[in-house]
Amino acid sequence: MFRFYEMIVRKFLFFNRWQYRFNKEVSQAIKEINKEKSEKENIAFIAEEVKNKGVFILNEALSSITLQAFRKEYNKFFESEESQFYAVDKHDGAVCIRVKPLWTVKNMFKFPITLSFFNVNSFDKITKRFYKNRTDKIHFMSEIFVHNTPETTEPLSGGLHWDRAQTLKFWIYLNDLEVENGPMRIELDSVQKNAAIRSSAKDPSKLVGGVDNIVEPENEVVYLTAPAGSVMIHDTDASHGATPVAKGKQRQIIRGHCRAI
Ligand SMILES: [Fe+2]
Repeated sequence: MFRFYEMIVRKFLFFNRWQYRFNKEVSQAIKEINKEKSEKENIAFIAEEVKNKGVFILNEALSSITLQAFRKEYNKFFESEESQFYAVDKHDGAVCIRVKPLWTVKNMFKFPITLSFFNVNSFDKITKRFYKNRTDKIHFMSEIFVHNTPETTEPLSGGLHWDRAQTLKFWIYLNDLEVENGPMRIELDSVQKNAAIRSSAKDPSKLVGGVDNIVEPENEVVYLTAPAGSVMIHDTDASHGATPVAKGKQRQIIRGHCRAI
């Protein structure tokens, strides 16, 4: 049933002016990666980078006008009645709103900018390319998490870990994320080793929804800093974790989840 609504809502969004803007702006950012290559080749490049390195950042993909409108709608999530969401987690001043399922008619009318963003055509293509042998099993942006994290020394998911349910995540940075704003950090060259451990589990179904695996990094750990309007694409097989947010700073992001199950 959810798949039916997903189809209708995603098709309907193509008549939305924000959908047009997002498609255009993200597509332009992708073209900028390598102007001599086609969009298809650049999309394949992004998918490969995420597969091999665990992350790719489309720097400042959104224009300031689009970003401004998106930020306005982002605030609406926190002003809304909590009971309408799947879950609202609060921890040390941080608020994380879980919207699941995403593709509903109600969400489309209440949060049209957010739904248009996560429906971007290029994200769909990157996801299909990433899960190339399992395209029939993809759950595309089945849920989103809307985060606002003010100063904290104990951010949620702070330990370096990999997710037991492998997920391709798309993050939109709604404010500038410098090191003091608590961006995610990632261990380089960790995708393959973690993927091997995950897939060697005897009963993979027991991993789904389980506790994340904490790891000791063996390689360099980098902070995924980028300006507001950047899109970060991340494979959770890479060791990753949240970082503290300094006094007077905050981290405002929304992340969408894609899985092939
Ligand atoms: Fe995680």
